[in-house]
Amino acid sequence: MKVVHTIEELRAQLSGQLRVAFVPTMGNLHEAHLSLMKLARKHGDPVVASIFVNRLQFGPSEDFDQYPRTLALDIEKLERERDVYVLFAPNEREMYPEPQSYKILPPSDLGSILEGEFRPDFFVGVTTVVMKLFACVQPSVAVFGKKDYQQLMIVRNMCRQFQLPVTIYAHETVRDADGLALSSRNRFLAPAERAEAPQLYAALQKVQQRVNSGVTDFADIEGEAVQHLATRGWKVDYISLRRQSDLGIPDPAQIRDGEPLVVLAAAKLGNTRLIDNLEITVTPDTRQM
Ligand code: PAF
Repeated sequence: MKVVHTIEELRAQLSGQLRVAFVPTMGNLHEAHLSLMKLARKHGDPVVASIFVNRLQFGPSEDFDQYPRTLALDIEKLERERDVYVLFAPNEREMYPEPQSYKILPPSDLGSILEGEFRPDFFVGVTTVVMKLFACVQPSVAVFGKKDYQQLMIVRNMCRQFQLPVTIYAHETVRDADGLALSSRNRFLAPAERAEAPQLYAALQKVQQRVNSGVTDFADIEGEAVQHLATRGWKVDYISLRRQSDLGIPDPAQIRDGEPLVVLAAAKLGNTRLIDNLEITVTPDTRQM
């Protein structure tokens, strides 16, 4: 694997390559990232990964400074898996040589809801850096994880609207055996918090069960899940049932017609904010009327 730190070196490595598969990350790589690389390998060649902790997507009171930076270990992991041909690991000066005054602004019906409501600058920062990374790497495919469900949808829509010649592939959320979605932020959990953390996914599964069993009062289902976690000490930002197609609020009547849903959640355990989601497809068979 070649490790490059500048756009010039990156372009030299990739010149003439027409099927680049790209996996952007912020590093501190774990199993979920490694499976994104494997999926990238199925859809293109060579695979390029990036590691860049993007200041633009962190709010002023968020954990940009604390975000784990483990480049040497990350390189070891990538070398061991042998899926990645070039790792692009720029520093801030390389990515933002001048203040980034041009930005991508996702539409508010997607960018200002859910994560966007609690992290107002997040999606502007994500889409802006993804657009820049795409300009540097010029991939024909890129892979994102479904754990960041809203991010995935916003990036897909951005590619469509800007006619970027990049096909986005999604990888299923990778979980520990107890259900906790893998995330770089899990390392901030104290042992007791780590033991409690799978309850977030359990709450989503309960929501799924309730929807599948025919309950159509979604506000009630969401409220019950929030309450359940709150009594266990979580500070819940949201647990919200949405349409998979556009993350809009579903009308229970549409559900009878098989509208695919997703329940998305964000909640804090101590100082660590976790997000997760679960897709729900209600079919007449799965629904116990
Ligand atoms: O999902 C992430 O790790 C980041 O949001 C991304 C897509 C690498 C942009 O910084």
